[in-house]
Amino acid sequence: MLICHTINEIKSFTRQAASQGKTIGFVPTMGYFHAGHLALMSEAKKTCSVVVSSIFVNPVQFGPQEDFTCYPRDIDRDKRLAVEVGVDAIFIPSVEEMYPPRFSTFVETKKITDCLCGKSRPGHFQGVTTVVTKLFNIIQPDIAFFGQKDFQQAATIRRMAEDLNLKVKIVLVPTVRDKDGLALSSRNIYLEGAQRQAALSIPKSLALAAQAVENGERDPIKVKMAVCNMLAAEPLVEIDYIEIYSLPHLEEISLLQGEVLLAIAAKVGKTRLIDNLVLKIPDNWPIIPNKR
Ligand code: PAJ
Repeated sequence: MLICHTINEIKSFTRQAASQGKTIGFVPTMGYFHAGHLALMSEAKKTCSVVVSSIFVNPVQFGPQEDFTCYPRDIDRDKRLAVEVGVDAIFIPSVEEMYPPRFSTFVETKKITDCLCGKSRPGHFQGVTTVVTKLFNIIQPDIAFFGQKDFQQAATIRRMAEDLNLKVKIVLVPTVRDKDGLALSSRNIYLEGAQRQAALSIPKSLALAAQAVENGERDPIKVKMAVCNMLAAEPLVEIDYIEIYSLPHLEEISLLQGEVLLAIAAKVGKTRLIDNLVLKIPDNWPIIPNKR
C-alpha cells in the first residue's frame, strides 16, 4: 500500500491509475479506523479497481469548543487495517499541506445544512464540504463512499457534487454497529463504564420508533415523543436533537409517509454521539391501528 503525505505524490498515483482506465474509489476519513470505516473500503474494493483512502483530522470542521486536539489518532494501526482490506493508497497530509498560510476559500452548501448537525454545530458542514472538495479535486475519484451514520454529511456532499457538476458518484454505505447495537464511532472510546450502557438508549430508542411506525403510528410528533421519553429516562444522556425529516431533501413533515429520516444527537458525558434510521413507510393506506 502506497502512503502519500503530499498532494503531488497522491495526484501522480491517481492520475496514472486513471490514465490506465482504472476506476478510482475514494474513502475520506479522519482515521482511528473501526469496522464502519473498513466497510466503506470493502465496498469500494468491490466496485472499483483502485481504492484510495485519506486520513486527515480536518481542523476547519471542528468548532472552537470541540475535540480537534484530542480527537483519537493511531496512524500505524490504521495503516495495518487498511492493508488488510486491500486499500491501494492512503493520503495522509499535514494541516499545512491542506491549508497553506494564505488559504481563504471555503465551500458552503446551504438549506440542507440548516437543520440537525448543521444547526447544532455552526460552521461544521462548511469545513466538511471545503475539505471534501479539496480531496475530490486532488484524488479525482469516480466513486466516493460515505457512511449512513453521518447521513446529513453524505446528503450534503451529494447535493454539493450535483450543484457543482462534479464527476464523482456518491455511494452511501449502511451504518455498522457493535454487537450491542451502538453505532461504531471513533469517539466511542471516550465513553467510560456506565456511559457506554447509557449510550445504548440511542439505538434502542431508534428501534422503539421503528416499532411504533411498524405498528401504524404516522404522527412524527408522537414518534419523537416516544424517542424523547426513552432517552430522557437515562440521566447520563443529554439530548441535542430528535428530528424527523423527509428524504431526500431533509424537509419538515407533519405526516410520516414515503422515506423519512429519524435522526438523534445526544451527549453522553462529554461525548457527542449521533445515530439515525431511514424508515420506508408503505403507502398501503388506511393505516393499521396502534397495537395496545
Ligand atoms: P470520519 O468520522 O472518520 O468518517 C469517515 C467515514 O466513515 C464517513 O463517511 C462516515 O460516515 C463513515 N462512518 C463512520 N462511522 C460509521 C459507521 N458506524 N458505519 C458506517 N460508516 C461509518 O466523516 C468524517 O470522518 C469527516 O467528516 C470527513 C468526511 C472525512 C471529512 O473530514
